[in-house]
Amino acid sequence: MPSEKESISFEKSNMTLDSSDAKIDNGSESDSNGVKDFIVTPWEVTGDIDYSKLIEKFGTYTISDALLEKIKYFTGEIHPFLKNKYFFSHRDLDVVLDEYKRGNKFYLYTGRGPSGLVHLGHLMPWLFTKYLQEKFDVKLIFQLTDDEKFLFNSNLDMKTIQKYTYENILDIISIGFDPKRTKIIVDTKHIKYLYPLSIEIAKKITYSTAKAVFGFSNSSNIGMIGFPPVQGAPCFLPSIIENKPTPVLIPAAIDQDPYWRVTRDIAEKLGYPKPAQIHSKFIPGLSSVGKMSSSKPETALFTVDDPEILETKIKNTFTGGQPTVALQRKLGGNANICPVYWYLNYLFDTEKESQERYSDCTSGNLLCGECKSDMIKNVKPFIKDIQTKRDKAQNLIKDFMIDGREFFEDSSVGFK
Ligand code: TYM
Repeated sequence: MPSEKESISFEKSNMTLDSSDAKIDNGSESDSNGVKDFIVTPWEVTGDIDYSKLIEKFGTYTISDALLEKIKYFTGEIHPFLKNKYFFSHRDLDVVLDEYKRGNKFYLYTGRGPSGLVHLGHLMPWLFTKYLQEKFDVKLIFQLTDDEKFLFNSNLDMKTIQKYTYENILDIISIGFDPKRTKIIVDTKHIKYLYPLSIEIAKKITYSTAKAVFGFSNSSNIGMIGFPPVQGAPCFLPSIIENKPTPVLIPAAIDQDPYWRVTRDIAEKLGYPKPAQIHSKFIPGLSSVGKMSSSKPETALFTVDDPEILETKIKNTFTGGQPTVALQRKLGGNANICPVYWYLNYLFDTEKESQERYSDCTSGNLLCGECKSDMIKNVKPFIKDIQTKRDKAQNLIKDFMIDGREFFEDSSVGFK
């Protein structure tokens, strides 16, 4: 843990530091024949996810109307991601808001595992995090788990991950977080900020719990087994920075929940508040099944995609439409399984537009080509804006890094 002399402060843009919730379940769900129909873990999300079942299995809570009103008390409105239930589940969000009302500000904490380029799915929790930062005027810790991606992917080397880490940092900065209230931690660069906390966490978690929660087996490398406390550590870092118990709220998709379950379980034993979460669903890929994922690039919309590529990908998107125009007019489409409807509904349409689109689609008044063209019209400027901000972000990296240094600063080791 940093000594007083080595304390971390958000006041300085140049930060120096020189000197049981744990449920035994990974969310997998089986039908009566024992066939798994969906799996949600930090490393695998497959199948047709039933989010209500996931709430039950993970032991989280639905965001109730009463809780929405509680949020509205501070924000003056209900954000579309909350209204349309994209963020649908939580742990202790009410506790964090009550503390906030009493004057005890929370920190936001979110992150990215830099295993590839950033796609639209990753942006969703970050856009919401930015909104929360602005509305609540709070600080944010943003972790990049380059170590996780190295340890969990046999085909990724550190050089490739470093390249993605840099690219991902540009995306993060382009979201528009406030540099004075946002600090980025790259695990392999800034481990000294996390290591003292992560060993405290590690000491309280048995191998048997880690196996049960994360599914480790005899063939897991030992780096994988040791990693979860590193992702848990930023949950407690704000208490160190502020030098008092400081609540933390984590916006993320629900795949990350196993990390928080084990961290919450040991928080109070270590004298820290349990980290609170607000969980989102997953945005689907452009094919008929599964979440948007960098590992299926043809079905993902990346922040670095050229406009023509975006257009081609969207034109090739699976939809809930009928095979012919005549059948579409006669039978109507199935908006419930259509990724194009999904993106327009969750990201671009107003509530009214979305309702109209749904009824026009299902009654056969709207053709898939029209929805795809609406999506192209919305996605292109959205991504273009990010690309413009990414270009400028190259000069802002120092302002965001927890050590106040450039990403590629020389860190060669040797005797002087
Ligand atoms: P990663 O890089 O897999 O994902 C980054 C964030 O994006 C969310 N996400 C999605 N959300 C919606 N639709 C999708 N298709 C989709 N794919 C990914 C993830 O839930 C996550 O919020 N281990 C983490 C990195 C991390 C982290 C954190 C994430 C470290 N600390 C704290 C959240 C909060 C990871 O590999 O995320």
